[in-house]
Amino acid sequence: MVQLRSSQSMSLIERNHLAFQLTSISVRELLFVTDLPCDVYGIKDGVFELVLKRRSYINKEVIKGLIQAGRFELFINHGERQKLITYHQDNLRKLTRSLSVGDPLEKGKKVLNLLTINMEYLYKDPTNDETLNLQYQSAKNLSAFLAANVDLHEPLYKSSIQMKHHFIFAQPLLSSLFLLGVLKMSHLFNAKDIESLFITSYFKDIGMSAIPTEKYDQMEISDEEKKLLSRHAMHSVNILQGRIQLGPQYLTIIENHHSFSLLAKDLDYFSPAGSKGEVVAGFETALVCVMDVIAAMISGRPFRPASNLFDSLELVKALIAEQYPQEFKLIVTYFKNFFFKK
Ligand SMILES: [Fe+2]
Repeated sequence: MVQLRSSQSMSLIERNHLAFQLTSISVRELLFVTDLPCDVYGIKDGVFELVLKRRSYINKEVIKGLIQAGRFELFINHGERQKLITYHQDNLRKLTRSLSVGDPLEKGKKVLNLLTINMEYLYKDPTNDETLNLQYQSAKNLSAFLAANVDLHEPLYKSSIQMKHHFIFAQPLLSSLFLLGVLKMSHLFNAKDIESLFITSYFKDIGMSAIPTEKYDQMEISDEEKKLLSRHAMHSVNILQGRIQLGPQYLTIIENHHSFSLLAKDLDYFSPAGSKGEVVAGFETALVCVMDVIAAMISGRPFRPASNLFDSLELVKALIAEQYPQEFKLIVTYFKNFFFKK
């Protein structure tokens, strides 16, 4: 049962003191928590109040209740932040080792959500080896799971979109899901290649962690932030090099993963300075790039609505069809099957 404590039962000093100790969390961080490791606070009329007590059992109804009550802003004690992170990471570790057991769709949904939650922890602390290793191992196991369960891609994609995770953390998984589907459909890549390209795609934007997440919601960012963003591909390589098992050819793909997106207007500042018009590193790089462009365009952002699939394919046509006509047809066929399957 949800335990509530009225704000009146706390003194003003107690409440003010609390504000200095609290750190915000997303309501999605309460997903899959069956034994809450810390107290959770909400804010009402500018006053903090306890909304979930430590050891609470949380299910969908509890989360629904919080959302319906407009409690989107939740807080925990700063000193207890690590307890919640450890709880989710232990959960992800167990889940990722048992993906083949139980209902595959439910398992898939859960691992997608926990990976996305852990991606946020990783972006906030990209030099943390334990968090990176867990994310790498989980993404690797997910890659094998997705390769063996192609029929689950569409329901998993839809369920991930519905969760409304922040796009910075959700986008890598969505674009990598598309990538894996196209690679499988092409019959040109063996299982190891598919796994490596999935990992490459999944971690390619980790360099974007150089800028606080909330900056990505803004229409305008400063020139300094634009510069940081334009260097994010190289920054990703610097973060990953020597820390995850990825050959140099895959790091080269990460380094060049925006070479093909130079015409994408809203991705313009992601292009490395001085590289306009250059196309680097072959079809795999093009594929990683255009899957990212499509996944980004067909989902909305705080600063722009979603485009339709047709418009995103038109852009991809302009980017790669001349150089890779057969591969472009493959991409079109893949997305037609994905979204308009009868
Ligand atoms: Fe990128």
